[in-house]
Amino acid sequence: MPTTVRRVRVPQLAAMKRRGEKIVMVTAYDATFARLFERAGVDLMLVGDSLGMVVEGHENTLPVTMEAMIHHTRAVVRGTQRALVVADMPFGSYQTSADEAVANAVRLMKEGGADAVKLEGGESSEAVVRRMSACGIPVMGHVGLTPQSVKLLGGFRAQGKTEEERERIFHDARRLEHAGVFAVVLESIPEELAGKITEALSVPTIGIGAGKSCDGQVLVCYDLLGLTGDEAPPFAKRYGELGEAVVSAVSAYAAEVRG
Ligand code: KIV
Repeated sequence: MPTTVRRVRVPQLAAMKRRGEKIVMVTAYDATFARLFERAGVDLMLVGDSLGMVVEGHENTLPVTMEAMIHHTRAVVRGTQRALVVADMPFGSYQTSADEAVANAVRLMKEGGADAVKLEGGESSEAVVRRMSACGIPVMGHVGLTPQSVKLLGGFRAQGKTEEERERIFHDARRLEHAGVFAVVLESIPEELAGKITEALSVPTIGIGAGKSCDGQVLVCYDLLGLTGDEAPPFAKRYGELGEAVVSAVSAYAAEVRG
């Protein structure tokens, strides 16, 4: 008899934090990679709006649409059995009103099949997170470097450089926890601040460029696999050289065809 694999559930993540078990999350955008990441045993797959950059070739995540997020979420869900699938809410899909945020999150879950959604911002997103949580939508927060604010920030810059900024990020993470998020991504902030937030929150923190003390880590899969070359952010450690492997395989194919 085939064994049924149980999907990771939202409450398990807080239990993992309590047990000191680290949470492994990677981004995924299609079924083929999702199947491979399943075999590698990742706990969470994030259908990140980073797909706007690494898949669609835009210079930032702002042009990503709800349709694109639903399309890629469906593909990732089809490629997973165990990993919990989190879909990013694209720019403009939750900033205008709590009603619109709920409607778009419902689409990502109903049409895309996502288990949960992620949105950016601290205090500014608090009311929206509260409303979504009250509707039964599991929400992951995201503070520190929030790529959808790239125009306001003046680039993809590390955050938490001044005491005032650090206090604001800490406060943002606390507000999100009170509003009901089940986890918070901490992006590009000092390790010490990430450690302080991780200790203060009962929900897990998932770091990216935020040091080792977070409860889990996330990386953009194209960076991790060495597909993005020099465009990867400096903190993104490479665990493979797939870019070179692709060039070499396709060159061998081309040489054989031409020969
Ligand atoms: O869109 C994305 O891939 C993300 C991660 C960098 C956390 O938000």
